[in-house]
Amino acid sequence: MTLLIALSWDPEPWVERFGRFLPDRRIVVLGEPFDRQEIRYAATWGPQAGSLDALPNLELLFSLGAGVDHLMRYPNLPDVPIVRVIEDDLTNRMSEYVVMHALMHLRDQRRYDAQQRARIWEDNRSQPAAREVRVGMLGFGVLGQDAGRKLQMMGFDVAAWSRTPKPVEWCRTYTGPEELDAFLARTDILVCLLPLTPETRGMLNRDLFTKLARNGRLGGPVLMNAARGGLQVEADILACLEDGTLKAATLDVFETEPLPTDSPLWTHPAVTISPHSAATSEPDATARYIVEQIRRHEAGEPVSGVVDRDRGY
Ligand code: NDP
Ligand code: OXD
Repeated sequence: MTLLIALSWDPEPWVERFGRFLPDRRIVVLGEPFDRQEIRYAATWGPQAGSLDALPNLELLFSLGAGVDHLMRYPNLPDVPIVRVIEDDLTNRMSEYVVMHALMHLRDQRRYDAQQRARIWEDNRSQPAAREVRVGMLGFGVLGQDAGRKLQMMGFDVAAWSRTPKPVEWCRTYTGPEELDAFLARTDILVCLLPLTPETRGMLNRDLFTKLARNGRLGGPVLMNAARGGLQVEADILACLEDGTLKAATLDVFETEPLPTDSPLWTHPAVTISPHSAATSEPDATARYIVEQIRRHEAGEPVSGVVDRDRGY
């Protein structure tokens, strides 16, 4: 059995890991000669046009991350199960990111950063307690649930919204388009962890931002998007920051990545930017996860992370 690594960036760390964890299998990368009939598994991120074509014996197609929108746009996607990453290392990284930025907004850290640069010693004595700040998890799947739970453990007042009911005993949950407005109306910090699908594209827009709580303790709603840039309308984010509809935004993902150097988001004082690094797939942990799914597949056991193609996530 041969595993194909189809990547638009340096495949070396992956070749090394898969070679180590699958010593009795052949690992090939795009660009080197290989027999396409031999390929039974492919691990990919942002596959180039044609790279996944004509693999007649492919059995499983692995995304090297949690999201699969990069695969859903591939023309003639092979008709085999698509497996995404559901793995603790990635989940923990995302929760660290979300908790860190929620705390940063709670504790007004951006203001202290600016004050430090200007050598100003001034305490913001009106900081609320975490329990007074309502966080809304927009998307309550693997990542949304873990981050939401950890925010709740920090004391935040957490609620969540998802497509289908996801009741948990530790926070209020809202479901579907009919409950979205009620969810937004009680949200001070909106944390987006939705997949990018035809239904969710562009939903972080002015219409949605105007429905967020106006009476919160942070002095205005805060947006955090660590999911996909295609969910957000950046012109609306900037305009809403200007007119006070939003107080601040933490953005890890962008309509165009890398974020163009002339984007006004770079220098906006209320915007915190990271380079799509909220939860990077660590090669060791990710390769081990994929190898385990191959083992399960070959043993006839259920494989974790199989994507529903009709839902698109
Ligand atoms: P899951 O599939 O586990 O969860 C997705 C959640 O979104 C589910 O609660 C789902 O509802 C909900 N959802 C999907 N579509 C809709 C809709 N139309 N209306 C309402 N709710 C909807 O995904 P993960 O939590 O594992 O990952 C979420 C996303 O995070 C990934 O798709 C990826 O794009 C992004 N990501 C970003 C990273 C980064 O570094 N910036 C790293 C890793 C992931 P339901 O529960 O009913 O199915
Ligand atoms: C992912 C990502 O989807 O890193 O895993 O964006």
